[in-house]
Amino acid sequence: MVFDHNFNLDDGSINWGPTESHREYHRKMFQGFLAQTPQKLRQACCDDEGRLVHILQAEHFDLPFLEHICEVTTAARRSYKFASAKMHEMLARKKVLHLFAQPSSRTFESFTVASSNLGMTSRSLRDLRTSSSAKGESDRDALRTHSSYFDAIVFRSPCDYFDMFALWVMSTSNRPIPIINGGSGKAKHPTQAILDYYTIRASLERQIDGKSFAFVGDCLRGRTVHSLAKVLALHKDIEMYFVAPEEYQIDPQTEAYLKKKGVKVNKVTGGLEGIPEIITGAVYMTRIQDEHDGDGEQKRYNPRFIFTEKMLDQLQDPAVLMHPLPKREEIYPAIDYRSDRKIMIWREMRNGMWTRTALFAHIFGFDQEVLRSYHEASKAYAPTPL
Ligand code: MLT
Repeated sequence: MVFDHNFNLDDGSINWGPTESHREYHRKMFQGFLAQTPQKLRQACCDDEGRLVHILQAEHFDLPFLEHICEVTTAARRSYKFASAKMHEMLARKKVLHLFAQPSSRTFESFTVASSNLGMTSRSLRDLRTSSSAKGESDRDALRTHSSYFDAIVFRSPCDYFDMFALWVMSTSNRPIPIINGGSGKAKHPTQAILDYYTIRASLERQIDGKSFAFVGDCLRGRTVHSLAKVLALHKDIEMYFVAPEEYQIDPQTEAYLKKKGVKVNKVTGGLEGIPEIITGAVYMTRIQDEHDGDGEQKRYNPRFIFTEKMLDQLQDPAVLMHPLPKREEIYPAIDYRSDRKIMIWREMRNGMWTRTALFAHIFGFDQEVLRSYHEASKAYAPTPL
């Protein structure tokens, strides 16, 4: 199953090479790499000073790391207006490739703007039919090629284990540039988890311990749900409600992971009614991820799981309504026209640009520079609230 790291390497999601003997050889090497302990694999994501430079999965984050990225995010966001010229120079010599093999609006554009906030040159490769993949080039060779020209790669892939694959390729290269997971398969969207965490942390004024969260919609294949739940599980006394029909309920491996971290897990299959009023952290809505069904059909959303205006009124301060977007019918349309501090969806989206700016600064070691430029700018500037 996809969530327990026993990957099926023959699922066709990676081009391992031109012949069966090539494919077998590379798969064996990759399996050897994966056989390392989770600690060793995390270590492989860090530089010599122990800084996490490959941003691949939520399981690699800890609270000090998240706290640091949140602070750099706030510094970048607040000082940009006043210190934009300075920020534009910071990474002017760096080049990033956005390698997106799946549709994306927010992740792709926010990474692109984030890189330009710091003066980076960015290029994108979204239609792989225009690359040498169409000539049968293996994915391993493709990644090594890109890493020869760029200083970082942000990728998005339908493959559940593309993060580990990319890490393995970098670990066997003499130019191991930082790689960032912009969404892989059904279980991982670590940078979305960071922007969601930033939004929650600000909305709850940093009081996340002891709060409850509802994840609604497709808890099985929603990678944003998996990554955010794992990040929130780093806090104490967290309660989570997975609100979805049986067929979209959270998978047993993720449930076990969360319980091991001390999270109280509740599975609600009957509908959303009665849940928003008991939530003290956030209600996190998601769409049905029907692209994984393979029949090209857009599935109707069960009306019992729609977030209504009444539910917005029932949501108690300081809890907020969130959605990673794109949304379809899971949120009642009148909510688009309500002006309510509890609706954090659009703020959440914009926060993505700033958290990704902070991530670029962090992986290239310019995070302290961003903090410094904020402190300088803040002498002449009164910050605005989130
Ligand atoms: C994703 O890529 O997972 C999105 O941000 C959320 C979605 O597609 O529903």
